[in-house]
Amino acid sequence: MRIITVFSVILLGIVLVAMNQSSSRDNITIPPSPTYQLGREPIELPLNYREQFVHYATVERSDGVIRHLYISPQAIQSILNGEELPERTMVIIEAYRPIPDNPSMHYLDPEVHVAESRSTWQIADLAASSRVGTWNFGAFNAENGQPITDTALNDCFSCHESVSSRNFLFSNPQLEAYAQTGKTQYSYCPRAGRAICR
Ligand code: HEC
Repeated sequence: MRIITVFSVILLGIVLVAMNQSSSRDNITIPPSPTYQLGREPIELPLNYREQFVHYATVERSDGVIRHLYISPQAIQSILNGEELPERTMVIIEAYRPIPDNPSMHYLDPEVHVAESRSTWQIADLAASSRVGTWNFGAFNAENGQPITDTALNDCFSCHESVSSRNFLFSNPQLEAYAQTGKTQYSYCPRAGRAICR
């Protein structure tokens, strides 16, 4: 009887030590998920934008890169009404690059670029020290929606700032023409890269 009792005490001791170890192992502090003020959450790429958004323009360039431009559909009626773009209007641009060995074929660059208009952005939310209208910019992996962090987002601001007369969107003329006609606007730019065309 005594042997069993001693044995039980030892066993209990082992169990307690094991529990203590496992609880100290489980005792990892999980950082709280960041909370953002409403309207200041980071931009999120909608993965189904090709179905949900309006493909309003295609720009082809002399380097063989073809870009498709999409906008959230609510924007079109506002443009027709001559109103400001709705809150959270999102514009997405993707690049189809020529395959080096077979330039008539293209592959989709996984990095897509996004501009989102919100009245609630604060300077601290932008990768720039001054505002570019109501826009903020982001770069994302089109397949999984993850933000791409090694792209210099401040360049987006400085280049797009040059088209302030077009609400900072280079393709504003194509956007207007799409709203009027419902037809995707095709344009060819004889300059490579993202040099400004018109
Ligand atoms: C050197 C200038 C330049 C830089 C830098 C640049 N863009 Fe652009 N962007 C353009 C041009 C020009 C167009 C129009 C499409 C074309 O002509 O290829 C454009 C188009 C766009 C569009 C479609 C709406 C529009 O303006 O026509 C979005 C969205 C966009 N860019 C986001 C970005 C983001 C995000 C970045 C940074 C990661 C960025 N851009 C960096 C020049 C630039």
